[in-house]
Amino acid sequence: MAVRVDLNISLDGFATTTDQTPEAPMGEDWSRLVSAYVATRTFRERVLHDTSGEGTTGVDDAYARAYFAELGAEIMGAGMFGLHNFPDDPDWRGWWGDEPPFRVPVFVLTHGAPRPPIEMAGGTTFHFLSATPHEALDRALEAADGKDVRVGGGATVVRDFLKARLVDQLHVAIAPILLGRGIRLWDDMRGLESDYEVTSETAESGTIHLTFRR
Ligand SMILES: NC(=O)c1ccc[n+]([C@@H]2O[C@H](COP(=O)([O-])OP(=O)(O)OC[C@H]3O[C@@H](n4cnc5c(N)ncnc54)[C@H](OP(=O)(O)O)[C@@H]3O)[C@@H](O)[C@H]2O)c1
Repeated sequence: MAVRVDLNISLDGFATTTDQTPEAPMGEDWSRLVSAYVATRTFRERVLHDTSGEGTTGVDDAYARAYFAELGAEIMGAGMFGLHNFPDDPDWRGWWGDEPPFRVPVFVLTHGAPRPPIEMAGGTTFHFLSATPHEALDRALEAADGKDVRVGGGATVVRDFLKARLVDQLHVAIAPILLGRGIRLWDDMRGLESDYEVTSETAESGTIHLTFRR
């Protein structure tokens, strides 16, 4: 049982993009940041429900498969779930459609008004809570029933869990692009690597997969 993080970051360390507009809610930079992941067969199957068998099957895909393996629960922030984009919509159900890719209990951290859990198709249930990282992790570990807990994002929540030293395995997929602004994963993290064994592997796409294991 491990607490895992998988994040896509730019060469200059940014885990968020800043060029969203009402017309383009994801912006152009998001597709630049995640293009190698989105191109994988696993992403196409698991997130887009594309059963054609298309998509890359190399190093990026091996990491994408690992994102979902042995997962028992997920934790994410209000930003990643979309509550900051749709603060006044009590029926907002996340970005992932009727059948989200998680297929496990997902704990959404928010200071907002209490929301009832939302049960989705395929095994995902979103639970909303206001709690410290330690408390949220205890709930997720209980729900995970011996499997791993993934802290899915966004940048703020991942940084909080890293600072609280709750992460056993941090995998960053470093896209060979520069974003220049946003929330940088590494700020104030001096010496983080000393708690971990660090390995790296470069994919065919040019993405560098860096893994910190406790
Ligand atoms: N690069 C990647 O791989 C990746 C992965 C996932 C997401 N993202 C990106 O990350 C961005 C979102 O990240 P973000 O940093 O803006 O937001 P976030 O980390 O998803 O969420 C932060 C928010 O969650 C709530 N929160 C955090 N800790 C809490 C606690 N202990 N108790 C209660 N509520 C708590 C607060 O919102 P309230 O106070 O408003 O409730 C806080 O502002 C998106 O742009 C998304 O695209 C990137």
